[in-house]
Amino acid sequence: MNYISPSILSADFSRLGEEISNISDAGADMIHIDVMDGMFVPNITLGAPIVKAVRKCSDKIFDVHLMINEPIRYVEDFVKAGADIICFHIEASSDVGATIDKIISLGKKPAIALKPGTKAEEAFKYLDKLYMVLVMTVEPGFGGQSFMPDMMSKVKAVRDECVRRNLDMRIEVDGGISDKTAPQAVNAGADVLVAGSYIFSAEDRKEAVEKLKNAK
Ligand code: DX5
Ligand code: ZN
Repeated sequence: MNYISPSILSADFSRLGEEISNISDAGADMIHIDVMDGMFVPNITLGAPIVKAVRKCSDKIFDVHLMINEPIRYVEDFVKAGADIICFHIEASSDVGATIDKIISLGKKPAIALKPGTKAEEAFKYLDKLYMVLVMTVEPGFGGQSFMPDMMSKVKAVRDECVRRNLDMRIEVDGGISDKTAPQAVNAGADVLVAGSYIFSAEDRKEAVEKLKNAK
């Protein structure tokens, strides 16, 4: 079964705490929290104080996706706020290795994210230290965009390299995931599915989560 990480970007922000507990009860494995700084991506969302405030609303894994420049500056803040996984963009940091080491030294799980234009091979030299690789299936910045099927070869390339090295790796996909697109991602080797609009706009969120869990 796949792990499901609903993106709160599509939640009702006026009731964010309730939305997070609701989605946790609906069977989410993780809570995907999109942090944007208006620099790395054109949009601005939320920061560590909000993560800290909603930490009490769920006991699920907090999967924090940093779409910010020089993410190393904020690792500690997000750890203190209650992040479990800290995922940052390989394109956003001057020193990817140091950022990974910092996350590990603070006892949390490091992940790197790849924008659509970044090759799978860019991630290879860090794989040994990583908990997860996030292959973006849209350009980061906004929810509700269309899934990019041509990213599936990248998912497969990362999975093949992990298998070759015998690494127990989670591969996450993010952007345009629904019951229609999830099977492609799973077949390519993804096992953590982020979904924002698909889950939060579903009439029955539990059923939507269940469908993604069983996608194959
Ligand atoms: C986009 C974010 C995604 C986004 C996904 O930059 O990283 O997590 O919320 O939204 P959907 O599932 O609606 O494409
Ligand atoms: Zn995301």
